[in-house]
Amino acid sequence: QQDPRLAGIAASIRVIPDFPKAGIMFQDITTLLLDVKAFRDTIDLFVDRYKDKGISVVAGIEARGFIFGPPIALAIGAKFVPLRKPKKLPGEVISEEYSLEYGTDKIEMHVGAVEAGERALIVDDLIATGGTLNAAIRLLERVGVEVYECACLMELPELKGRERLGDKPLFVLVQSS
Ligand code: PRP
Repeated sequence: QQDPRLAGIAASIRVIPDFPKAGIMFQDITTLLLDVKAFRDTIDLFVDRYKDKGISVVAGIEARGFIFGPPIALAIGAKFVPLRKPKKLPGEVISEEYSLEYGTDKIEMHVGAVEAGERALIVDDLIATGGTLNAAIRLLERVGVEVYECACLMELPELKGRERLGDKPLFVLVQSS
């Protein structure tokens, strides 16, 4: 029994072929943001799932996790912590590396943003290979934070990113090819 709001959310995401390079079907969430009902439904679905779960931290992944994470954080009464690309955060950071198709990348978090024993939700727009979320989980767990779940708007199931999260639960609203 699929929630009737999901069809509208899925329809509001624009797919742009061959962006940023040939062969990639880019899932463009900016069109969802233009659709007030779809954007509101997206946030409501996450908030309904995560309110009253003892979550004190919403960690959002740069860049599009910064769009969806903060409204969820405010609605469930949690703080928002940005997980950023290297050299963006001005304070002392801890970082985790992850592999890309060619080379590696890193995400960083401010030291002191979270405390051991807190419960976190990680938010991003999309899981592809799962490398980014895997690094985010490691980053939070390293400092003693319990990762309750990862929440994404979209999953590309063919890339099997879910398998890279180990036993960590992943909740997505929409699956695309
Ligand atoms: C995209 C997406 C996720 C990540 C998923 O971000 O928003 O953060 O890739 O890929 P993965 O599951 O294979 O790790 P992108 O790297 O395009 O960065 P941006 O949001 O800063 O543009």
